[in-house]
Amino acid sequence: MGAQTNNLPWRSMWVIGASSGIGQALAELGAKRGLDVVASARRREPLEQMAESYSNLTALPLDVSDPASVSAAVDTLGVDNFPELIVFCAGTYVPGGLEVLNYESAEHHFKVNYLGAVATLDAIVPVLKKRARGHVAIVSSLTAYRGLPKAAVYGPTKAALLSLCETIKPDFDKLGLDLSVVNPGFVRTPMTDKNEFKMPFLMETEEAAEATLDGLAKKQFEVTFPAPLVRRLRFLRLLPYSLYFKAIGRISQ
Ligand SMILES: NC(=O)c1ccc[n+]([C@@H]2O[C@H](COP(=O)([O-])OP(=O)(O)OC[C@H]3O[C@@H](n4cnc5c(N)ncnc54)[C@H](OP(=O)(O)O)[C@@H]3O)[C@@H](O)[C@H]2O)c1
Repeated sequence: MGAQTNNLPWRSMWVIGASSGIGQALAELGAKRGLDVVASARRREPLEQMAESYSNLTALPLDVSDPASVSAAVDTLGVDNFPELIVFCAGTYVPGGLEVLNYESAEHHFKVNYLGAVATLDAIVPVLKKRARGHVAIVSSLTAYRGLPKAAVYGPTKAALLSLCETIKPDFDKLGLDLSVVNPGFVRTPMTDKNEFKMPFLMETEEAAEATLDGLAKKQFEVTFPAPLVRRLRFLRLLPYSLYFKAIGRISQ
C-alpha cells in the first residue's frame, strides 16, 4: 500500500508494541498518513505482514523485558535515521483483584509495562540528545488515575508510568525534547477481550489510533480518550477516600 503525504510534525515513527491492538492500528495509521514507520513487538509474523502491506513500514522484532534486545534495536536504527516519534505501547494485562495478585505476576507486569518503558528511555534518550530533537510517547492508561477494581496487578504499573512521565517532563523540556503520556479508556483489543465485565465507552482500535496520533501531533503532554469516561474518572480522582470507595463500590457491583 502507498503512503499519503503527511501534515504531521514528524517524518517517522517507531511503535513498540505494534503486533496487535492499539499499537498495530497506530503503526498502520502512521504508514497511511505518510510516516516512515518502524513496528516492533516480540511476534515477528504480524509485523512482517504489515511490512508487506505498507512499503514505508519496517518490522523490527524485540522484547522490551530484555534491555539488551531494546539496545540492539536502537543500534540497528542508528542515530542519523532514528525515528522522530517513538511510541511505547507494549503492555501485558491480567484482569482481577486480590485473587490474582502474586509476586510472579506483578514482577512480569512491571518488567513489561514499566521497566520495558524504562529500558526504552534508557536506550533512546542518548540518541535523542545527540540529535537534539524527538518526541517520546508512553502509553499508560486511565487506570493510572486511581486504584480501580480488577486492576490489582496491572493498575500499579500504569500509575508508575504516569508518575514517571510527570517526573521527567521538565527534564525533557530542558533538553528541547517532547514527552507525552497517552491515557486511553477501554479499547477493543486482544488485551481487553479477556474482560468479563461491561466496559463503558468501549472504542475501536482505529478510533484510538486516530485520537492518539492527533493528540500527539498537537504536542499535548497528556493524550486521553474517550472524553465521557475521562470526565468521569477525572471527577473520581478529586474525591476524598470516603466518597471514592463508595462510588467505586457502586460501579463494581
Ligand atoms: N485496550 C485498552 O482498553 C487499553 C486501555 C488503556 C491502556 N492500554 C494500553 O495500550 C497498550 C496496548 O494495549 P492493547 O490493548 O493494544 O493490547 P494488545 O493488543 O495485547 O497489545 C499489546 C502489545 O504489546 C506487545 N508486547 C507485549 N509484551 C511485549 C514484550 N515483552 N516485548 C515487546 N512487545 C510486547 C504485544 O506484542 P507481542 O506479544 O508480539 O510481543 C502487543 O503488540 C498497552 O500498554 C495497554 O496497557 C490499553
